[in-house]
Amino acid sequence: MSHTVCLVPGDGIGPEVTEAARRVLEASGAAFQWVELPAGAGAVEIYDKVLPTHTLDEIEKHKVALKGPVTTPIGRGFKSVNVQLRKKLNLYAAVRPVRSLPGIKTRYENVDLVVFRENTEGLYSGLENEIVEGVVTSLKVVTKVASERIARAAFAYCKERNRKKVTVFHKANIMKKSDGLFLECTRRIHAEVAPEIEYDELIIDNGCMQLVRDPTRFDVLLMENLYGDVISDLCAGLVGGLGVVPGANYGDDCAVFEAVHGSAPDIAGKNVANPLALIMSGVMMLRHLGEIEAARRVRQAYDGLLDSGNLSELTRDLGGTAGTRQFADAIIARL
Ligand code: NAI
Repeated sequence: MSHTVCLVPGDGIGPEVTEAARRVLEASGAAFQWVELPAGAGAVEIYDKVLPTHTLDEIEKHKVALKGPVTTPIGRGFKSVNVQLRKKLNLYAAVRPVRSLPGIKTRYENVDLVVFRENTEGLYSGLENEIVEGVVTSLKVVTKVASERIARAAFAYCKERNRKKVTVFHKANIMKKSDGLFLECTRRIHAEVAPEIEYDELIIDNGCMQLVRDPTRFDVLLMENLYGDVISDLCAGLVGGLGVVPGANYGDDCAVFEAVHGSAPDIAGKNVANPLALIMSGVMMLRHLGEIEAARRVRQAYDGLLDSGNLSELTRDLGGTAGTRQFADAIIARL
């Protein structure tokens, strides 16, 4: 059976890493029909929109997308494509598994945790307003519906993957109402659907300190949108950087698979970006599509490549000398 999958290359390093991931997935044993769709800076020039309507329509129609990163201007310009996409497709759960990888030496061993991020509301929505010159507000909206929904998703994931513990990061000592509501919901859903799963809460500043001291004490981390954005990058740093951490955005109808990293303008177009994070996101996509054997093969291929320590086949961020394309070739050769 062939799967129709939307492919959104994005911009910056996006086209390079999506091309590498597409080639690896095609060699995995699963069959695909790709529907390539524009988003980001390139889309503005042609469609006058960063997120053209037909990109959204096609993802809604085919329900699955593999997406490269897109650039969002700082302090000015258009609203984030990612925020729009996640809201419009109601992709409420961002799931980012973070694990120590064979052959990648870091300060820590045996890290194996998953960041579960509420993906549709909170401060990350960028609902801002200039009241008068020099005075700006930024609205943090937290709802019972979205908080309960992400908590249900996190506990369901624990049961499915045999995860033992959920830790909620929050700041309800200061944001008593908004983060307070989030906590009220996670506690209630825990008691209702998964009392057998261990549950605890940490104020996020302490949570960061605990993470860098000993990340192995954590299993599933559950939090609101902006915290999840920041903590995902912190966790990537624990296991080898942004080149090695995948992600998925799930809704009830659609799923969009993308790496944690951004468009990395500093290295774009140079064939040096590590495509592994998107390839790993592709493995999450294979599992989502029921292609369990193909997923296992790709994972085995890149684990083997990393473990080999052959620097001529690894990208620069991993201490090697291979380019984006050569890294993908080395995985394909092992498939
Ligand atoms: P970034 O993640 O693009 O880059 C941070 C650092 O990590 C840079 O030094 C970059 O070279 C390196 N890096 C990132 N991915 C890499 C890879 N695959 N291989 C090797 N090195 C890699 O974050 P930054 O610079 O803060 O953001 C750049 C742009 O990306 C911004 O416009 C931001 O809004 C956007 N962004 C988009 C995301 C998405 O589309 N999902 C997610 C995060 C940021």
